[in-house]
Amino acid sequence: MRKIFIASLALSGLLFAQSAEEIIDENGCLACHAVASKKAAPAFAGIGKRNKRFEGANAKSTIMNSIKNGSSGKYPMFSESAMPPFANLSQEELSTLADYILAQSSKAHGRGNGRGMGQGMGMGRGMN
Ligand code: HEC
Repeated sequence: MRKIFIASLALSGLLFAQSAEEIIDENGCLACHAVASKKAAPAFAGIGKRNKRFEGANAKSTIMNSIKNGSSGKYPMFSESAMPPFANLSQEELSTLADYILAQSSKAHGRGNGRGMGQGMGMGRGMN
């Protein structure tokens, strides 16, 4: 089992860059996060949106840094838990993840994703 797993990991790394979904899957990010809804951690959509808004041109590097080194205290609703560091990820993987997370920002509640989909009360609820 283990050998096959490692071999397929090595292979996929050699043949093509891993997709964000694969990296997320392999590292168990979804144990805490969801893409568009709150779980034990802020949704990737909300994270993308928040960082675009507050970090601007630094959004990507901020996200990469938070995944690599962990984060806590940024999202008040989740002050009970913290983002653990994933120091095992390569710069390339971090970059793939950050691009993916930023691309999810259009799925966040609030402005910019059309109206009338049952999110009429969205304003003011914010993403954290
Ligand atoms: C043990 C639960 C847990 C796991 C597993 C987890 N996270 Fe998090 N993550 C959190 C929490 C809690 C926060 C909010 C931290 C804060 O308030 O600063 C967070 C925040 C983040 C942020 C926002 C950082 C910022 O600067 O805005 C990103 C990006 C992120 N996580 C990505 C990931 C990725 C990618 C993975 C998988 C490699 C992952 N997380 C795995 C709990 C987790």
